[in-house]
Amino acid sequence: MALILGIESSCDETSAAVVRDGCEVLSNIVATQHDLHERYSGVVPEIASRAHLERILPVIKECLLEAGVQLGELDAIAVGHEPGLIGSLLVGLGAAKALAWSTGLPLIGVNHVWAHLWSPCLDSRSIEFPAIGLVASGGHTALYVLRSPTDIEVIGSTIDDAIGEAFDKAATILEAGYPGGPAIETLACDGDPGALKLPIARLGDTLDFSFSGLKTALLYGVRGRPEGRGRDVTYPRSVRDLAASERADAAASFQKAAVAAIIRNLERAIGQHDVRSLLAGGGVTANGELRRGLTGVADDHGIDLRLAASAYCVDNAAMIAGLADALHADGIRHGMDLPAAARVTH
Ligand code: KG4
Ligand code: ZN
Repeated sequence: MALILGIESSCDETSAAVVRDGCEVLSNIVATQHDLHERYSGVVPEIASRAHLERILPVIKECLLEAGVQLGELDAIAVGHEPGLIGSLLVGLGAAKALAWSTGLPLIGVNHVWAHLWSPCLDSRSIEFPAIGLVASGGHTALYVLRSPTDIEVIGSTIDDAIGEAFDKAATILEAGYPGGPAIETLACDGDPGALKLPIARLGDTLDFSFSGLKTALLYGVRGRPEGRGRDVTYPRSVRDLAASERADAAASFQKAAVAAIIRNLERAIGQHDVRSLLAGGGVTANGELRRGLTGVADDHGIDLRLAASAYCVDNAAMIAGLADALHADGIRHGMDLPAAARVTH
């Protein structure tokens, strides 16, 4: 039970939050960088880390001001230190270390993906364990068994693209806009999800995912089968040859297949594990079709569905400070040698 300042900078959101007792969000400031990356249709790591550097201190100041909290009232400084873009992580980690060192407060490093699993707890009541967890974001797609907020086991993950990455690529193929996920969801609203038959990969008996075949099937469905190879590849059609209704149909068909891939593995995971709750977080869990699918699964199995509120689906520091409360209670403290890591290796 503690008052914790959280810092998040793993990708293209600079965020700071003050959270009391893991759940009560006193402030959660998120500075997005969408405008800086839009013209590249994806996050450019160097641009992201430079933007974090410019924004991190104003964002931290604003979050303390909004919470009405002085540094001296805090119990700990928490920071997402893995996984993510290394240059981006280092900015948040540097700021957190400087604050912890200058105030003498404990430093707590938090796994960003685990924090997504905490996001359903924010502003909300406590969770019943064991639980199945789903993280569906731009960088991660995985299923977990949680015996507690900090006892987490991966039971399935993507072998290639993350689902959010697939949404972003689908938006590039359909010239739908940036960021891709919300753009595809909007475009899909007027489309027929049965128009294109797109494959849903099944990887034997595992609970793993694969989204790269779906993305290629969408590309061929929209532009036709390519001729030639490498730089000389040509397609029979351009997306601009499609009628507006056909673009909407393609978006709806893609969204249906991507969501079905998640729901199918989730059904199998719940069949294999005796759980009381289903926790879901990450940017793609803002998607209405996925939220409806998750509601159906939880209803069918009579388990408690805990979806992150839409403000906490995308990257945010409240989830970092929230999970840090559980780590703090477990006695976890880190030193000034805490490293940033692009991938989680332990
Ligand atoms: O969790 P997040 O902010 O960052 C990572 O940790 O990766 O997730 C960002 C991802 C992006 O790929 C974005 O396109 C996707 O979440 N996303 C959505 C929606 N809103 C955000 N995907 C589908 N439907 C949405 N409504
Ligand atoms: Zn994330």
